[in-house]
Amino acid sequence: MDRIVVHKSGPLSGIVDVPGAKNSVLKLMVASLFAEGCHELTNVPGISDVDTMGRLLGALGVRVEHSLHDPSVLHLTNNGNIRTQAPPELVESIRASINLLGPLLACCGRVRLDLPGGDDFGARPIDMHIAGLTAMGAEFDPATGFIEARAEALHGADIELDFPSVGATENIVTAAIHASGVTTIRHAAREPEVADLCTMLVEMGANISGIGTSVITVEGVERGSLRPVTHAVVGDRVQAATYLAAAAVAGGEVTVAGSSAQHMEVLLRRMHDMGPDISAVPGGVRIESDGYLRAVDIQTLPYPGIATDYKPLLVTMLAVAEGIGIVTENLYPGRFRYVEELSKLGADIRTDGHHAIIRGVDGLRGAAVSAPDIRAGAALVVAGLAAQGRTTISGVDHIDRGYDDIVGRLCGIGAAVERVTG
Ligand code: EPU
Repeated sequence: MDRIVVHKSGPLSGIVDVPGAKNSVLKLMVASLFAEGCHELTNVPGISDVDTMGRLLGALGVRVEHSLHDPSVLHLTNNGNIRTQAPPELVESIRASINLLGPLLACCGRVRLDLPGGDDFGARPIDMHIAGLTAMGAEFDPATGFIEARAEALHGADIELDFPSVGATENIVTAAIHASGVTTIRHAAREPEVADLCTMLVEMGANISGIGTSVITVEGVERGSLRPVTHAVVGDRVQAATYLAAAAVAGGEVTVAGSSAQHMEVLLRRMHDMGPDISAVPGGVRIESDGYLRAVDIQTLPYPGIATDYKPLLVTMLAVAEGIGIVTENLYPGRFRYVEELSKLGADIRTDGHHAIIRGVDGLRGAAVSAPDIRAGAALVVAGLAAQGRTTISGVDHIDRGYDDIVGRLCGIGAAVERVTG
């Protein structure tokens, strides 16, 4: 199994380009179910979740291939013969497999899926997906042990979400594409990745308004009326935040290109409060840090608040900041599993329910640690940059699910990081 080996590094300097977002591309790939023909996605990240989704769509009848000339271009060919059951081992290995629910109901009127997988943050219910689709006329059969539903004909509905769930918003939007009448989703998720999916669906011929706001309206159009398009995946704000956090702890002057500063506004303000100079530049963000950080309190919230996916990076920054910071997790109470690993590097962190109290230490020390999930894995790599000696991170397959060559990108700005096999 591969490991990532990190040595204390800094100051870092140069430009890091980030590719498209995992949490967008996987849903854009699924959108290919809506139209026969050849779809093209550009700015596609080289991550293993894209390969898994490619195999999943392949099993449903969409051929997915990287361009021979450019691996960041994906061709998806829908020949019109779509199956509605997917192989369990693929469904169980990524969270985004739940995004098949809305499109398969909309296009085929039935679906049968195993429970989706993804990172283990504790319970990840899908009650809002089911309630929304039921309000539109879908009938779920809870007795089968699968996510199994039928809908002779979906109809529009006025749906108010209890919480702006990313996945539930996306499944209701996609289910509504061919529903009769108008569907309104109130308290909808506003994440840039949700907006990216809606934008591509509109380019394909769907009728969606309120994109990027908390009230999204979808007016159903005829089945068969959508067409394939070429669409560029929105830049990955979490990968961008990772390289900003790296420069913040290691010091240096780094420009992160490819992700919009506007999509990270609240995060950038908070990072700036911790000491580094941060500014928006055309096409990205520039950070200047002398490695000195001071503690702040942080709470995770739905967009435009500070995303839960940034949290392990912020906890890592707080671990080496002056003072005490309290981090409150409002989305996944179980998302603190990596704290034990950071503690092995000398971080002083106490968790209490959905809070973590982080007392900054003068320096971390290298140790062998294991990545429990995608973002925590990346945060351990960042922590290694601030740790004396050698930090070895196992569980690299988690990081590969969401990061496109994190080692190469960090080496490109002068970090001492390598990937070793065996
Ligand atoms: N929730 C419910 N019921 C539902 C749906 C959600 O209670 O029916 C709760 C969840 O348990 C959670 C909260 O609502 O407490 C937010 O969940 P949401 O549905 O918004 O998350 P998701 O769609 O499952 C996506 C990303 C996650 C990211 C979250 C929040 C994908 C594939 N995953 O998950 O990304 O953390 O939104 O922004 O888009 C990652 O990339 O590492 C990752 C975990």
